[in-house]
Amino acid sequence: QLRVGLVGWRGMVGSVLMQRMIDENDFEGITPVFFSTSNAGGDAPTPNGIAPSKLEDAHDLAALAACDAIITCQGGDYTKEVHQPLRDKGWTGYWIDAASTLRMTDNSIIVLDPVNRNVIDDAIKNGQKDFIGGNCTVSLMLMAIGELFKRDWVEWVSAMTYQAASGAGANNMRELIKGMGYIHDGVADELNNPAGAILEIDRKVAELQRSSEFPKQYFGAPLAGSLIPYIDVQLENGQSKEEWKGCVETNKILGNDADKTNANIVPIDGICVRIGAMRCHSQGLTIKLKKDIPLEEIEAALRNSGNEWLDVVENDKAASVERLTPVAVTGTLKVAVGRLRKMNLGGEYLSAFTVGDQLLWGAAEPLRRTLAIIRN
Ligand code: HSE
Repeated sequence: QLRVGLVGWRGMVGSVLMQRMIDENDFEGITPVFFSTSNAGGDAPTPNGIAPSKLEDAHDLAALAACDAIITCQGGDYTKEVHQPLRDKGWTGYWIDAASTLRMTDNSIIVLDPVNRNVIDDAIKNGQKDFIGGNCTVSLMLMAIGELFKRDWVEWVSAMTYQAASGAGANNMRELIKGMGYIHDGVADELNNPAGAILEIDRKVAELQRSSEFPKQYFGAPLAGSLIPYIDVQLENGQSKEEWKGCVETNKILGNDADKTNANIVPIDGICVRIGAMRCHSQGLTIKLKKDIPLEEIEAALRNSGNEWLDVVENDKAASVERLTPVAVTGTLKVAVGRLRKMNLGGEYLSAFTVGDQLLWGAAEPLRRTLAIIRN
């Protein structure tokens, strides 16, 4: 049986991964080895009734090297500390990682099998061993419109994102809700009075949001009732790192960067914005097509792409409001795409809006599916 080490299984992404593995019976037929950075020797979990065991030390290279595959959601610092030393020891197992650290290395593959199963299969054949989950925004965009890339219809994409608090971490999700509560508590009396003047309530809300007491320790700026137009660190070229990832990771997932010339790179750019959603990232896309393809043909291509998770939402108000929102999609493996129409910029310009759960397809799901592929 494959010995599969699990690291960072207790955190937010790790917990979602564990639940998905339990739901899909992934623990059957493997020997899971649970690692901990803080509680080695403690009792390991027993998902799906697997035999009780003790937690191993996540920094014990010998214990890690005894695994055939390691799945980590422990974060980038852990990857930096452990991955190279493990390889230097001669370990040739599969490293499956949610963190971005190794995504753009020459030896790694970014995994999103409904979109790049061929790239993954080739990599396994070639003996590559580092399989890394993509940036959530990139993975969710490709889950939505991957078929358009597959058909080589796309000249470029502008992606304007509306990213949920979960992408920044569990503490940030809590902070968002605290901010909502802080605002509500500050104007609760006025709200209860139907005759209360709205502009007075609004003035108070802005005062609350600007006060030094407003919960913003993790985001660094108020998010509830506002937005933050910057995600991840600042790069020299004016992009945020999140915006930079959109182009490089998409093209790596699609295998467009394989020949190391830039000839096959599809330009992708946009502005990444944090909004007050919990765990669904949304994106407004402007897609420049290589030619004027009829809208019906595009919709049919998406509907018949074989992507069983894709909900192609008809471009009307009722359907959009019902199915194309974070509330509709959150906690599910569905990726919704809608608002599909030709823009008045011209027949080659397609608009689309997409919503997906950034903890599922954006993080945990591609990892567990990669393990399943490796097992076969
Ligand atoms: N960087 C993403 C975000 C999350 O901040 O929303 C993970 O890819």
